[in-house]
Amino acid sequence: MIIFKSPEEIEHIRKASQLTAATLTELAKLVKPGVSTLELDQFAEEYIRSHGGIPSCIGYYGYPATICASVNHEVVHGIPSASRILKDGDVISIDLVSSIDGYHGDSAITVPVGEVKPKVYELLKVTEECLFKGIEQAVAGNHVGDISHAVQSHAERHRYGVVRDFVGHGLGKNMHEDPQIPNYGTKGKGPELRPGMVICIEPMITMGTHKVRVLEDNWTAVTMDRKPAAHFEHTVAITEHGTEILTLRDTPRLIQ
Ligand code: MF3
Ligand code: CO
Repeated sequence: MIIFKSPEEIEHIRKASQLTAATLTELAKLVKPGVSTLELDQFAEEYIRSHGGIPSCIGYYGYPATICASVNHEVVHGIPSASRILKDGDVISIDLVSSIDGYHGDSAITVPVGEVKPKVYELLKVTEECLFKGIEQAVAGNHVGDISHAVQSHAERHRYGVVRDFVGHGLGKNMHEDPQIPNYGTKGKGPELRPGMVICIEPMITMGTHKVRVLEDNWTAVTMDRKPAAHFEHTVAITEHGTEILTLRDTPRLIQ
């Protein structure tokens, strides 16, 4: 069931989304060789709480941290750890959800650590482009499949893999609501997009196979071929006045 949001509810989601965005902006500045993913997590928790928010992921199905920190071949849901030290040439996907007044805001970025190989940089660039191609299709009257198709065709044009096992979603008082927003699909199919819908579009794109598996920690999803992956996500509101990216950062594109 899709839960439609009033302008007042969207204002709450906007507040949470802006806190999520600001936290990601600060986290991106901290990403450097020698930093542990736990240090990033601790910074994020402190930043969110000191700005009046609550980290949404802590305790969600038992998840133990504020951020998901997924390095290189880890696709999503990597658990922050003191022993996971970033090194030059890595990429780290940081996925973050915070809430204010009971409403969430969800966004993710993949950040290069120091100097990365041009091929890896290209993966990040194309994945961020996929996100914006998807957002362009997120307009009232279109269908979910228009978003899915835009993301998939841009990724596959570059011969990348499109992860199937995880999808985007609606968001509001719950972190995950209907509808699902797959990153693969057919134009014109799926639910119609209508004013009052708030959705999270989150392409997860890989340099090789799209197949993933979940590690023994029951969270970390990795590519089957251990090739790198990238993940970018925004929370987007579809309104009478057009589509608004609620988690937009001050510098909208991470990868230039
Ligand atoms: N943004 C992530 C998602 O949409 C949220 C993960 S929080 C976790 O899947 F608790 F599930 F890790
Ligand atoms: Co999400």
